[in-house]
Amino acid sequence: MDSSQSDDTSVQSAGRPAGPCVIVIFGASGDLTRRKLIPALANLARENLLPASLAIVGVATRPWSNDDFRENVRAGLKEHATEALTDELQNWFAERLYYLSGDFKSAETYSRLRQLLDEIDERHQAAGNRLYYLAAAPGFFSEIPQQLQKVGLTQETDDCWRRVVVEKPFGNDLESARELNRQLRDVLTESQIYRIDHYLGKETVQNILALRFANGIFEPVWNRRYVDHVQITVAESIGVEKRGRYYDKSGALRDMVPNHIFQLITLTAMEPPISFDADAVRDEQVKILKAIQPLTEERALQDTVRGQYGEGIVGGEPAVAYRDEEHVDPQSETPTYVAMKLFIDNWRWSGIPFYLRTGKSLTSRTTEIAVRFKRAPFSLFRDSSVDHLDPNWLLLRLQPDEGISLRFGAKVPGAVMRLGNVDMDFNYKDYFGSKPQTGYERLLYECMLGDATLFQRADMVEASWDVVAPVLAAWSATEPDCFPNYAAGSWGPEKAENLLSQSGHNWQQSD
Ligand code: BG6
Repeated sequence: MDSSQSDDTSVQSAGRPAGPCVIVIFGASGDLTRRKLIPALANLARENLLPASLAIVGVATRPWSNDDFRENVRAGLKEHATEALTDELQNWFAERLYYLSGDFKSAETYSRLRQLLDEIDERHQAAGNRLYYLAAAPGFFSEIPQQLQKVGLTQETDDCWRRVVVEKPFGNDLESARELNRQLRDVLTESQIYRIDHYLGKETVQNILALRFANGIFEPVWNRRYVDHVQITVAESIGVEKRGRYYDKSGALRDMVPNHIFQLITLTAMEPPISFDADAVRDEQVKILKAIQPLTEERALQDTVRGQYGEGIVGGEPAVAYRDEEHVDPQSETPTYVAMKLFIDNWRWSGIPFYLRTGKSLTSRTTEIAVRFKRAPFSLFRDSSVDHLDPNWLLLRLQPDEGISLRFGAKVPGAVMRLGNVDMDFNYKDYFGSKPQTGYERLLYECMLGDATLFQRADMVEASWDVVAPVLAAWSATEPDCFPNYAAGSWGPEKAENLLSQSGHNWQQSD
């Protein structure tokens, strides 16, 4: 049947299992491995997307045996698996787990790893394919690939692939990101490097592409003629929890903006790619990053707002001030909130503000892209009791309840002409059920298949840091005024309201 004539709701067929490989996780005793990576692999195994010829090698400094590691994985799965595992699946996993204890800086660790991988390749017929996952501290991101290369563990041949997944944070400013790219490319080709951003593993983030490019009705209005402005909110109700040591050096801007939020902006604003080939998609994303109007340091101060939470009430519970969090300097000036106004200087978006905000200890956990359309050009209802027309909104809700709403005006029933705002609502779970995922499933799977579409290319990372560089510079040159400047459990500092109100806009609050 001609697909353009089909009315069916078609769901894509399930994928094929990935080919044979060994996954080597550096930092195997850490939180990321336990909470995300292993549960994600379990979900892939449940969906038959992992190869039978698979082994997983954990590398870390703790002096564990294979059995200790297996036990740790079993306990971790009990706590963090998104669905309980059958005994059969537990055993399937256990048979494939190995552990190597070693110092990431010592050459000897890598020669032992090489020997272990040779044995495992033979035992599991993994064909020499390797996925090295750097779930270690960022200080090791260049050291580990360099050491792997020295013992011949990164070289690809016609028959086998070797890929390295690099976690976030990828540098902490433009210079350090460039340096890390240089160091990685000394020992790996760009096609071997998979820079991960877990936002791209979220179903609803990927759905931005489906919404825009698999439907005929949105794209014609997706531009400056019809869109008034765009708001991107990534609000978290949690504070820094146990990550004070990292966060106090990083802050909200570095932690969320050049990575997660810029993924959301590029997917929302990019031109249709010529195909879904990795480079075609990433070429379009990087064009958006390069089209973001550069901020001078002066503009950076005008068009950004930084905040830090004081004590307050979150979800009915008392919440401490940031400066009282564990491992945080009691005089810290690290921002836990940032709002920004950006413009994209291209044909489609010129003059349209993109507002973004993100912060910790806010009212609720909400990730949302709100597209506000321009008002109807003139009011037909002038002589009725309708005194103004509200604009239309398209709301893409990414977290916690995933869905899409279209807000428009409708006549309120009755003898007089009155308008009310109504929402046309689509909730994912109503249509497709809700299957809890960690967000890492698709990313791990795509990496095994060798599809880098959902991973960051070197130029994307550098272009992102380039955009925020003037803000980092302006902020470090000026004292923030009166930190803490928002109460935990609020929507952030008042100045963030002014950032929009000076252009006649308001944040689209979520319920
Ligand atoms: C991480 C940040 O990358 O993303 C955290 O370091 C943040 O500070 C987290 O909490 C948010 O991810 P998610 O998936 O909970 O929105």
